[in-house]
Amino acid sequence: MANDVVIDVRDLRKSYGELVAVDGVSFQVHRGEIFGMLGPNGAGKTTTVEILEGLRQADGGEAFIDGVGVKKNRRRVKSMIGVQLQQNAFFDNLTLRETVQLFATLYGSDASPDEMLARVDLADRAKSRYKHLSGGQRQRFSIAVAMVNEPVAMFLDEPTTGLDPQARRRMWKLIDGLRSDGMAIMLTTHYMEEAEVLCDRVAVIDRGSIVAVDAPQALIEQLANRGGQAVRRDGALTLEDVFLDLTGHQLVE
Ligand SMILES: Nc1ncnc2c1ncn2[C@@H]1O[C@H](COP(=O)(O)OP(=O)(O)OP(=O)(O)O)[C@@H](O)[C@H]1O
Ligand SMILES: [Mg+2]
Repeated sequence: MANDVVIDVRDLRKSYGELVAVDGVSFQVHRGEIFGMLGPNGAGKTTTVEILEGLRQADGGEAFIDGVGVKKNRRRVKSMIGVQLQQNAFFDNLTLRETVQLFATLYGSDASPDEMLARVDLADRAKSRYKHLSGGQRQRFSIAVAMVNEPVAMFLDEPTTGLDPQARRRMWKLIDGLRSDGMAIMLTTHYMEEAEVLCDRVAVIDRGSIVAVDAPQALIEQLANRGGQAVRRDGALTLEDVFLDLTGHQLVE
């Protein structure tokens, strides 16, 4: 179903001087799908995502959000997407409710701040300030802000990096809920467990290139069929083994 495609990326390229950060990346993300980009530091994940968000300009290729070209329609695309950056900064002197209200106003949205906060389990913190939140609460809050314009696509750049296991699981549940709402979700991660548990499909990216795209279990089965070796002592293959097999080096150095 072609109209199921929300994020359509074709041969994206981006260099910084001599360094090729994104080297011909193509993929599609469908409505109601969680698509993960799994790769180590410097693989080109943030560069790719920020091109799709209209925050950086590609040197080549093109990307479409719900059929709208990102290059020529940056403002329109920004109104259609939700964005959680790798690093967030919010106003220290506003409460959470005031901050969500501010973003809703900026987007011309009549979303209710309390409803947005409730959706990320922060209803009881409506009067708190961002600086007083825990890491997990901050990440959830940034998703509440990203939802005010009812986006068709949500971009999450390492949504659980630095969180403890409990906060990470809570975030997975929240992201899973966004999928149930029908959004197309693209996230980046360097946690193989996150990719395995949360993502419908995973693009394994290394040095600016996608080396494989498939469902996590399919990638693992393909490795088993190639006779791949497990690093785990119990012999169970993981996406870490897939990464090592495809790239010759480890996901986390
Ligand atoms: N503004 C920039 N100027 C110059 N080089 C950059 C810039 N942004 C990124 N790079 C380089 O491009 C490559 C890809 O960086 P990018 O931030 O996209 O990687 P990443 O996969 O998001 O890594 P991480 O897991 O550390 O967030 C890296 O080698 C990085 O040093
Ligand atoms: Mg990054």
